[in-house]
Amino acid sequence: MRFFIATDHAGVAIKPSIIEMLVEMGHEVTDLGPKDANRVDYPDFAHKLCYEVLANDGSQGILICGTGIGMSLAANKHKGIRAALCHDAYTAIMARAHNNANVLCFGERVVGLGVVQSILEGWCKTNFEGGRHAQRVEKIEI
Ligand code: RB5
Repeated sequence: MRFFIATDHAGVAIKPSIIEMLVEMGHEVTDLGPKDANRVDYPDFAHKLCYEVLANDGSQGILICGTGIGMSLAANKHKGIRAALCHDAYTAIMARAHNNANVLCFGERVVGLGVVQSILEGWCKTNFEGGRHAQRVEKIEI
């Protein structure tokens, strides 16, 4: 899988570990910033990532801020982006299986590295189930 990843200042510390986990799992990861912990506005990085995911067929995104909330709110403004704020493996698995989510959001101030590892594993091993879920996902866009 090709992943794009972006954070704000409140998600930048955990980012290297996330990239390492994904690369170890065999994925390709492009880091869209920021490079340091200077304060930035999370919507700027959410929008930057969404444009890349939409421009690169089949790619997915990972957005991290303090809570994951701001990132998910901003990302879901993009038609074609289904950003899911996940707190554990179960929500990550269901976001893929039932919602066909293509952007994973979480909060650095909410989850620790062990939980993040299980979120990533759950997300990456799960495909969209389609079927009855497909028509529901289609109805999300207005
Ligand atoms: C930054 O302090 C914080 O507000 C941001 O990272 C995020 O949690 C917003 O949703």
